[in-house]
Amino acid sequence: MKMILNKWVPLRVLVSAVSVLCVMASLEGQELPHSCARPDQIAIAHLHLDLKVDFESQKLAGSATMKLDRRTAASNLYLDTNGLKIFKVQSQPDGKELKWNLGEHEPNLGSSLSIELVDGVDEVTVYYESQPGAEAVQWLTPEQTTDKKYPFLFTQSQAILARTWVPCQDTPAVRMTYSAKIQVPPELLAVMSASNPQRKNKTGVYEFEMKQPIPAYLLALAVGDLKFLELGPRSGVYAEPSVLKKAVWELADTEKMISAAEALYGEYRWDRYDVIFLPSSFPFGGMENPRLTFATPTILAGDRSLVALIAHELAHSWSGNLVTNATWDDFWLNEGFTVYFEQRIMEAIYGREYSEMLAKLSLDGLLAEIKELEARDTWLKLDLRGRNPDDGMTSIAYDKGYFFLRMLEEKVGREKFDQFLKSYFKKFAFKSMTTEGFLSYLQENLDKNIDFNAWVYSPGLPADVPVVKTEALERVEQAGQNFLNGDDLSVLAVDFETDQWTTHHWNHFLRSFKNDLSPAQMKSLDDEFKFTQSGNSEITHDWMVLVIGSGYQAGFPRLEEFLTEQGRRKFLQPLYEKMATTPEGLERANRIYAKARPGYHAVSRQTIDKILNYKPTEN
Ligand code: BES
Ligand code: ZN
Repeated sequence: MKMILNKWVPLRVLVSAVSVLCVMASLEGQELPHSCARPDQIAIAHLHLDLKVDFESQKLAGSATMKLDRRTAASNLYLDTNGLKIFKVQSQPDGKELKWNLGEHEPNLGSSLSIELVDGVDEVTVYYESQPGAEAVQWLTPEQTTDKKYPFLFTQSQAILARTWVPCQDTPAVRMTYSAKIQVPPELLAVMSASNPQRKNKTGVYEFEMKQPIPAYLLALAVGDLKFLELGPRSGVYAEPSVLKKAVWELADTEKMISAAEALYGEYRWDRYDVIFLPSSFPFGGMENPRLTFATPTILAGDRSLVALIAHELAHSWSGNLVTNATWDDFWLNEGFTVYFEQRIMEAIYGREYSEMLAKLSLDGLLAEIKELEARDTWLKLDLRGRNPDDGMTSIAYDKGYFFLRMLEEKVGREKFDQFLKSYFKKFAFKSMTTEGFLSYLQENLDKNIDFNAWVYSPGLPADVPVVKTEALERVEQAGQNFLNGDDLSVLAVDFETDQWTTHHWNHFLRSFKNDLSPAQMKSLDDEFKFTQSGNSEITHDWMVLVIGSGYQAGFPRLEEFLTEQGRRKFLQPLYEKMATTPEGLERANRIYAKARPGYHAVSRQTIDKILNYKPTEN
């Protein structure tokens, strides 16, 4: 007989009791925004997933078993869930059913699953399944993959979406080890942010282990027709068969990056570093899932010009995965550190001139975005209470964070700063960190007289922002200016040696046109440089911003194609936003979106829905 709590206690009483508890949790003791968990009372030490991947019903079904660390006498375990169907909860090893209750759904939180523990119980199993609409998970039909033969699935748990496919303590403040047994159709391979198989087996059952403790947002799974190739002794690439060779070529410098990173800030702590290239609907450039970076195929430019993204995700193996932001308000501790570290890796391998170009593009992006954001959202320390943590994913955490660290480096000198960062990663390895914790470590171990208030607790950019010097990009600006002054493009191309330009030169060139160009100007640019036909996603994106702004007709078919063939939010958002500024543009945007939306991941859909005021009708 089921002993489910909500069968014999009026639902409303319970729901309100649970949500009151949940609010109290964020008001006293360990404050945990965006989570109902109370790890200060009972923490999950280890999670074991036993799941079957069913493409037909679009469900992950099975169980999550948790070893508990009962830190106080509290008898209720609170887990984060969002849209999960819970069947039963058992204590282990006796298999006795426990009472449980699922709270009401709250925005930017989900539903609290509270489990009443009996004295002495320190292991529980939750039997559950995810729903087809689970936001972390994208189920792709064969047609939506690159090779179009088999279905594909991938998850994206950061920031608070792990709870849509695993009941867990979904807060970056705590960590757990995990293991998993995943059953997939036998023609597919499963990989996770854990120890991974390198080839398929006949059973379709794969076992995983992550021995290092991680926060829940780093739980990840991908299932598809995947093949593996080595890059070096401790790195390799997974991709669909037709993508694999290209991917291996593009990532040739990965081992060099790992060595450069270790030389800077200490040993790589996760054994292997592999990268998986997902189908093009992956909503991000990359995601630093430990041991297995998830990456967009849109960085496969064929000239290795976009591999800073790999340096970035690799750098997260220290900043983020080893020392983790304690809350999403401290997001800059993950991303600002990682942009700084990424650029140091790029400098070590490709030289200062190269990394200064990256810094200049970062600065320009930052200055432009500061103009758009509310003042409070331009502090490094964010305030995301009651909001979606996704709102914090702006260039503030990334680029203002980067420049703050660069300012510190320039102030105390590189040698001293590197020593400091190395000691920081060592001391706080496998721990979570708040902004305040970092700042006091900074004062004690680097410099007592650093005025960080202007950076961390104030809007905009302080006066001591570092100066970025790149002659290469100054020349590019000159070229843009000369074009606007009417210079002939074929002469200009020779004078400025544009055949030597890399993606970053072209990005800067295209972004230098602040005001909309005329269709005639667009045509001469296109005739000379063939932008509409570019196979480089970064260049295509920047060109399409100009296509929309100028109303350059010849670019529109490619615009529609670009918005349909990939779902990377960074490329979609500015283009839909720009279209939405005029009535004809908005019409075009709505028409394209109606076609493209089913192929986008929920993360991208949510953003574009808002821009176009799109109201989903299904469900
Ligand atoms: N961890 C982020 C992606 C992320 C952040 C996902 C917040 C969900 C919530 C990842 O490391 C990242 O920053 N990706 C960037 C690439 C990078 C080179 C700036 C991206 O996807 O554009
Ligand atoms: Zn990042």
